[in-house]
Amino acid sequence: MLDPVRVAKDFPILSKGDLTYLDSAATTQKPVQVVDAIEDYYYSCNSNVHRGIYRISEEATERYEKARENISQFVGSRDPAGTVFVRNTTEAINLLSYTLGRQLKAGDEIVLSVMEHHSNMVPWQFLREKGVVIRYADIDSEGRLDPEDLKSKIGRKTRIVSLTHVSNVLGTVNPVSELAKMAHEASSLFIVDGAQSVPHMPLDVKSIDCDFMAFSGHKMLGPAGIGVLYGKPELLMRLPPFMGGGDMIREVRLDGATWNDLPYKFEAGTPNIEGAIGLSAAVDYLRNLGMDNVRRHEMELMDYVMKRAGEIEDLTYYGPRDPKVHGGVFSFNIGQIPAFDLESELNSRHLKISSQELHPHDISSYLDQSGIAVRAGHHCAMPLMTRLGVQATSRASFYVYNSRDDADKLFIALENAKKAFAR
Ligand code: ALA
Repeated sequence: MLDPVRVAKDFPILSKGDLTYLDSAATTQKPVQVVDAIEDYYYSCNSNVHRGIYRISEEATERYEKARENISQFVGSRDPAGTVFVRNTTEAINLLSYTLGRQLKAGDEIVLSVMEHHSNMVPWQFLREKGVVIRYADIDSEGRLDPEDLKSKIGRKTRIVSLTHVSNVLGTVNPVSELAKMAHEASSLFIVDGAQSVPHMPLDVKSIDCDFMAFSGHKMLGPAGIGVLYGKPELLMRLPPFMGGGDMIREVRLDGATWNDLPYKFEAGTPNIEGAIGLSAAVDYLRNLGMDNVRRHEMELMDYVMKRAGEIEDLTYYGPRDPKVHGGVFSFNIGQIPAFDLESELNSRHLKISSQELHPHDISSYLDQSGIAVRAGHHCAMPLMTRLGVQATSRASFYVYNSRDDADKLFIALENAKKAFAR
């Protein structure tokens, strides 16, 4: 079993006792083990990789490539050639939209859902300028992907289905293996946005049978600026490069160039060496906790959070009620927040709420006074806000260092916020 109080002791920022950090879906805190691994790299073998024929460069290269192997294994990929280091999930999906997009033609279709983060929406929307059609699958009243609607959107012209594994707003855990099957039956590629799932549950890219998966290091105890694009090597091989420069080439002539092997073909320029090493230490840390334990802990916590939420009058929360299909994300509103209206927002520049309604920004500022950090706003999912009929939500997101005690602090502070704003 996972003991969040013991886990929190590894996180210096949390052990001071004045912070209740409930914004891990935005970025997680970092344990000493991760910071130590980065420091050790800088103090013992800082140098460039794949270039120097001297001891510390060879040591840096070995640590960088071992990190790749370790991270590959963590998501069930046996071939590290399919693990490309990028900056984050956003960059991974941009890489795919650029490289796959070059092979698409007018009339080809891409299927997404209304619950996608902007990073799994905007890069695909770029392709509309070449006539590619984007279709969006809807959600049901509990924020689950509507399978019938999805089925109706996938058709003969579908080339790519790209869906989130866990919604960063609703917490919905999508049945990605079934979705992969659905996409493949239509001869489409299947891409998983794993930003909110890889950090939170055991998963295996082979059993999901996704063609590509993207995730970010900073959401899984690792440093910012390092992320992964996993791809089936035989598919990555067929893609053109994304960025040009050093390391991604085999040979350069004045009239052109040829490309390096995988995964280097997609890693132009000096990579984020310390980021990869730090992410590998984060993976060791999570593996040590046990990803089954991480998932169980979050399910139990979410069960508790939803029960406590039911005790607060006027509180609406979003996403599935069953913790088995709900990640560690809890989005809510108190009162009825008016729907997003860009025009009046720009004209009025003030929040149109009555005394019965607490705007998420007010909630977040109020909670901050008690040392509780949550996110408020559209969570980079504006189309989902529109679909939910709200302008914004507050979001508390839980992770391995959060306990029921943190949830209690949140709900006590929310009751106090209601009283304070009712005055
Ligand atoms: N994608 C991150 C979030 O949902 C930043 O907060």
